[in-house]
Amino acid sequence: MNPASTVPTSPPAAPGALPVAGHLWQILRDPLLFFERRHTGPAARSGVVVVRVGPRPVHLVTRPDLVRHLLADPGTFEQGGIYIEGVRALAGNSVASCPAADHRVQRPILQPAFQQRRIADYSRVTEACADALARSWHNGQRLEMVHGMHRLAAEVVTRTLFSGPGTVQAGQDIQRLFPQLLVGLYRRMLLPVGWAHRMPLPANIGFRSALNGINRIIDREIRTYRSGGRDRGDLLSAMMHATDPRTGATLTDVELTEQVVGMLLAAVETTGSVAAWLLHCLAIHPKVEEAVLGELRIAVGDRPLRAGDLANLPLFKRVFAEVLRLYPPFWLLSRVTTGPAELGGHRIPGGADIAFSLYCLHRAPQAFPFPHRFDPDRWLPDRVTDAQREAHFPFGAGTRQCIGEVYGRTAIPLVVATLLRHWRLRHATGREVTPLVKGTMRPSPMSMTVTRRAAAYAP
Ligand code: HEM
Repeated sequence: MNPASTVPTSPPAAPGALPVAGHLWQILRDPLLFFERRHTGPAARSGVVVVRVGPRPVHLVTRPDLVRHLLADPGTFEQGGIYIEGVRALAGNSVASCPAADHRVQRPILQPAFQQRRIADYSRVTEACADALARSWHNGQRLEMVHGMHRLAAEVVTRTLFSGPGTVQAGQDIQRLFPQLLVGLYRRMLLPVGWAHRMPLPANIGFRSALNGINRIIDREIRTYRSGGRDRGDLLSAMMHATDPRTGATLTDVELTEQVVGMLLAAVETTGSVAAWLLHCLAIHPKVEEAVLGELRIAVGDRPLRAGDLANLPLFKRVFAEVLRLYPPFWLLSRVTTGPAELGGHRIPGGADIAFSLYCLHRAPQAFPFPHRFDPDRWLPDRVTDAQREAHFPFGAGTRQCIGEVYGRTAIPLVVATLLRHWRLRHATGREVTPLVKGTMRPSPMSMTVTRRAAAYAP
């Protein structure tokens, strides 16, 4: 509540908005800086500040307690707003983008695809893909690692999604078309005006043709699966055979296609980007890397890694938590109010756009001292604070918390550990690696040299 009064007040407006364009130019110039600045000073302490994305007022929520509050109340703060509208243009009414009423039906249908038993199957595929990549490298080779990790993520995700005969080609085709979709998603976030994206402009035509191409690939896979009829142990089979526990209904082909596009969008970018950030952080903190390798040597030895091994790697888990804190791929998320609402003592009208930035919340100095510093030990049990736990939600919270969290928490460390135990990766240039913001946040291109370790695990 507003400490000065129990009567809700209008939230303050961020300064510097221009007529019509609002804060759009500032956001375009440096989105992370723009949103970080909104998280400091008295306006930020009030917990809600209004920014203008073009003509559209967006209520930016800047306090973690208020973000947790709104995520726990989907009846008032519904899935929607600038980010989700972009996702809907790609993934229609998928579980990630559908409104709460559909979500109550869809989520239980999909949940079995993410059971522990399935995750163990997916992990074997993940380890095999990472191992094949590690074997394909040559000593002294220079590789563009952000691209490499996204390519690997696309392969892992498509192979865990589909294990049919056309999988490899499907994965490569999806990977080729995907970047265009992400650019289209970002454009829709920053220019949330429907007609602009329906005009026959090259960008819109390219977006549409990439989306049609991906839909065709998925449609082809679905038809192959339907004609086979058996459970192949992959994600598409799990989704295809899942039934609504109340009605026994299964997903139609159109619904399945939307779910698959939504899954790809949610899974490939996130796992690829976080794996790349992990490699980056370990490369520039060699002492931490050495300690992680020591931990791996004791827990795993020379045998292939398994999903269950991660429970015995406490330092690696802390490193992972710190990377997710500094570089959450979903840097900005949105909701929309279903009716007049109150948040932190502020009055918010019905139909209002709400946004919150995980990137900024994860760097709030009140919760994280020296917030820009990479410090995995801030997650040691005797150092971690309640404020830290409250402000850390890389996988979201509430009813829309990431359905692929266990998958991501398993696949990413598995990939990175598989590569690191055989190769030392170091940046090949002095070029700074910075967050690059599109629909999601990924590292800027990073060229790395790979050197074979004299013995597996050698520093
Ligand atoms: C490091 C990896 C990942 C991160 C950081 C991450 C993060 C998130 C976040 C923050 C949300 C909540 C979005 C919101 O509140 O609007 C979310 C939702 C979702 N994620 Fe993930 N994700 C990751 C990996 C994955 C993977 C691997 C998959 C699928 C295989 C996946 C599938 C989904 C889906 C389907 C949703 C929507 C859930 C719903 O609304 O019920 N994610 N993710």
